[in-house]
Amino acid sequence: MPSVFIKTYGCQMNERDSEAVAAQLVAKGYSLAPSEALADVVLLNTCSVRDNAEHKAVSKMENLAGQFRKHRPGVILGFLGCMAQSRGRELIDQLPDVDLVVGTQKFHRVADYVDDLLAGRRSKIVDIEEEHGSEATIKEHLLNGTAKAKPVTSFVSIMQGCNQYCTFCIVPYTRGQERSRTIPDIVAECRELVSRGVKEITLLGQIVTSYGRRGGESGKVGKRESEQASVAGQNPLSHSPAFSPALTPFVQLLDAVHAIEGLERIRFTSPHPKGYGQDLVAAYARLPKLVESAHLPVQSGSDRVLKLMHRGYTRARFLEIIRQLRAVNPEMGITTDIIVGFPGETDDDFAETLSLAREVEFDNAFVFKYSPRRDTPAAAMPDQLPEEVIEARHAQLLALINEIAEAKHKVCEGRVLQILVEGPSRKNPARLEGRTRANKIVIIEGDARHIGQLLDVRIVRAAPFTLYGDPAILNLN
Ligand code: SAH
Ligand code: F3S
Repeated sequence: MPSVFIKTYGCQMNERDSEAVAAQLVAKGYSLAPSEALADVVLLNTCSVRDNAEHKAVSKMENLAGQFRKHRPGVILGFLGCMAQSRGRELIDQLPDVDLVVGTQKFHRVADYVDDLLAGRRSKIVDIEEEHGSEATIKEHLLNGTAKAKPVTSFVSIMQGCNQYCTFCIVPYTRGQERSRTIPDIVAECRELVSRGVKEITLLGQIVTSYGRRGGESGKVGKRESEQASVAGQNPLSHSPAFSPALTPFVQLLDAVHAIEGLERIRFTSPHPKGYGQDLVAAYARLPKLVESAHLPVQSGSDRVLKLMHRGYTRARFLEIIRQLRAVNPEMGITTDIIVGFPGETDDDFAETLSLAREVEFDNAFVFKYSPRRDTPAAAMPDQLPEEVIEARHAQLLALINEIAEAKHKVCEGRVLQILVEGPSRKNPARLEGRTRANKIVIIEGDARHIGQLLDVRIVRAAPFTLYGDPAILNLN
C-alpha cells in the first residue's frame, strides 16, 4: 500500500487533526512514511493564524513540487486545514502541482480523496464546504505504535470553531462557528484511550470555556446527558458532591472525564478569561486529576487595547482570575499568549503589558508579533505599527518573560515533584522525559519500564527550559 507523510503547522488542534487523518489512512491500509522523500502522498496541515505560518507552508509546498516534478511526478500533494479553508482553489491556481485542498470540516474525507487521486478517478479535489456534525468526526487515534511507541498522553478534541471574533483573529473564519461534541461521545473516546494505556488527556478546543453553550450538539449537553452517562454504568458526577445543574457544560464535562478509572491527569486548552466562571476555578480544588496548570491567553495588559481587540474582559478581571487560581493552589503553573504591536498600541499600552507580565509572573508565555489577517477588523484599523516598533517590543517583552520563567524554574531546584514519564527525551533519546503537574518538562535517567509511570523526582538542576530530576533516591521501582 502507498505511504503517507503529514507535516503539521500551528497549534495542538492541528496536531490532533493530523493524528486523526493519519489514523484514518492507516485504517485503510496506508503506511506512514518516515520522511517526505519516501512518501507517495505528502499532506501539509496548515495554520493561518499569522502570515509567516502560511508563508512557511506555501514555500514548503513549492520545494516539494519542484523536487517531485522531475523525479517522482506521481506523488500526491495536498494542503489541509486552516489555510486550505481560507484560500481554497486559489492554492491550486498558485501551485498547479497541488492535487488536494481540504478544509477544516472535511478532515474525515481525506482518506477517500487520497484513494480517488491515487486510483486516477479524479485529478484535482477541493473540498472546503461546511458540514453539519463535523465536530464529532475527529475521533481516531494512532494507538498501535505507528507514531509513538505507546502513547501515555493524548489530545481529545471537544469542540470546533470560535464565536468570539477577536478583531485580530482569523480562527472564526477558518474553523467556523462553535460546535460541541456531546459528553458521552467525548467520554467514550477518553475511556478507549485509557483502556489502551493513556494516562493523561488534554481536552482541546479554541475556546473551551464556551463548550456546549451553543451550536452543534450543545442543546443536548446538560443534565440529561449526565443521567445518560450514569445509566451507562459510571456516574460522571461522582467526584462532585456539590454538583448543581448550574455548573457550566465545560465543568460538567470535566466531571465526567474525571470519573474515568485509570485516567491519572486531565489538562485542557484554551479557556477564555471571559467565560472563566467560579465553577471552573473550584474544579481545580475539587478534582484531583485536574492538574495545577492553566494556559490563559491575556493578549494585552492595557484595557484600551483589550477593548479594541474585542476580548470581553479587563486587566483587573484577568488578574482576579489569576489570584483565584493561585488561592486554590499556589503551585498553579500559569502560561499565556500575548500579542505585541496591535494597531494603535502606544508606548503606554505596551508598558501596561510589561507591568502585567511582572505582576502575574507567568511560568511562560508565547509572545507574538501582531500580523494583519485577511478580512479581520484589526487589519483595517488605523495606526498599523511599523515593523521596527513591533520587533523592539517583541524583544523587550520576550526578555522579561524569559527572565521570569528562568527564575521560576530555579526555585524548583531541590524540590520533589511528581512527573508522568512520557517517553524518551526529544533531545537525548538515551534519557527519559516527563512533565510535572504544573507542565514543566523534566529529564531523568531511567529505562523503558518507567514510561507511563507517575514518579516523584528530586529536581537536581534547572536549565532555562528544562528541569533535570533524579528519581533514584525516591520511589523508583
Ligand atoms: N483561542 C485559541 C487562539 C488561537 S490563536 C487558543 O488559544 O486555543 C493562538 C494565539 O495566536 C492567540 O492566543 C494569539 O495570541 C495569537 N494570534 C492570533 N491571531 C494573531 C494575529 N493576527 N497576529 C499575531 N498573533 C495572533
Ligand atoms: Fe481567536 Fe479570540 Fe477565538 S483569539 S480563537 S477569536 S477567542
